[in-house]
Amino acid sequence: MNDARQKLLALAETWQTACAVMAASELDLFTEIIKRGNATADELARELDLDLKGTIYLLAALTSLKLVEKADGGFRIVDEFAPLLDSRSSDAITPMLRHQSNCLRNWAQLAWTVKSGVPIPTTCGVNDAFVEFQDFILTMDVIAKQNAPVVARKLLNAGLLDFRRMLDLGGASGTYSFAFLEKNPNRDAISVLFDRDAALDEAKNKAANSPYADRLEYYPGDFYATPYPRDVDFVWISAIIHQQGTDETERMFRSSFEATRRGGRVGIRDVYIDDDFAGPKSAAFFGLNMLVRRKNGKVYTVNETIALLTKVGFQNARLALPADDMTAVIVAEKP
Ligand SMILES: C[S@@+](CC[C@H](N)C(=O)[O-])C[C@H]1O[C@@H](n2cnc3c(N)ncnc32)[C@H](O)[C@@H]1O
Repeated sequence: MNDARQKLLALAETWQTACAVMAASELDLFTEIIKRGNATADELARELDLDLKGTIYLLAALTSLKLVEKADGGFRIVDEFAPLLDSRSSDAITPMLRHQSNCLRNWAQLAWTVKSGVPIPTTCGVNDAFVEFQDFILTMDVIAKQNAPVVARKLLNAGLLDFRRMLDLGGASGTYSFAFLEKNPNRDAISVLFDRDAALDEAKNKAANSPYADRLEYYPGDFYATPYPRDVDFVWISAIIHQQGTDETERMFRSSFEATRRGGRVGIRDVYIDDDFAGPKSAAFFGLNMLVRRKNGKVYTVNETIALLTKVGFQNARLALPADDMTAVIVAEKP
């Protein structure tokens, strides 16, 4: 009985620690401490234009979590977390923590959304909508830097990574394109990145420091309105379909089919929920994320995704890379 009580309370209390970490990230407090090596609450409040009492209380919570520690009359970041919390570092996960903070505003009204069926009206936190979009794109990069090389290797081993001209639909800053170009045995293969201008700017920044600058094409536009580029032999639709309803996904698959050469392939990376909606946990929780963030957002099953691909003309649609998380990949071919 006591155990059950503890378990329930522990489940319900995690939001407080999450809020403290995310608020510090949203305010870029960690980076400011790292820049100074050691910083007092006064210095941080002045530099970041924060309320002093609020800063003192937030630092107390972060100290209790052992993310920062008191030293020489000020605060420093605990060593093991420093590279991850320094927004200037390529290892930083702070964009993701800020993005979580943006999601949290929607999640906080989950009950309201479950009752009304729609996300709460969009509001910004301390940053504006453009910064929030950039953080979203950088978050995709934080996640994809871990996953894309693994997915690329698995596709290669399964004989599914031999394209010459790939379309990376909603490719963000191009992290999957880079990994696929690196692993593809065709050394002259190229990738066409189709996304919003602001996302492509991030891709251009990354490409400048990579060996693939001349193997990327940029295709700015709205994939619900702009005609797709033609004559590709691989369409990569990665973490996209969950943001939209079934009709939009069917149209997206149809446009992808038309864009693809005969014998070409489509790959759909996403997190898929079981037919009976009983799991996996990552899919169930991602479903909630879409519920609170996107009017038509949803979580798909493998079978309905395969059925939609088949309906528009793709053949042999199958779960080529099974996984319980967002690294599952369905592929199909154009006959
Ligand atoms: C969840 S992210 C996935 C990014 C990347 N494919 C990955 O797997 O890491 C969705 C991407 O789709 C892009 N996107 C969303 N709606 C779009 C639209 N209507 N037209 C073009 N790009 C869009 C976003 O800018 C973002 O880069």
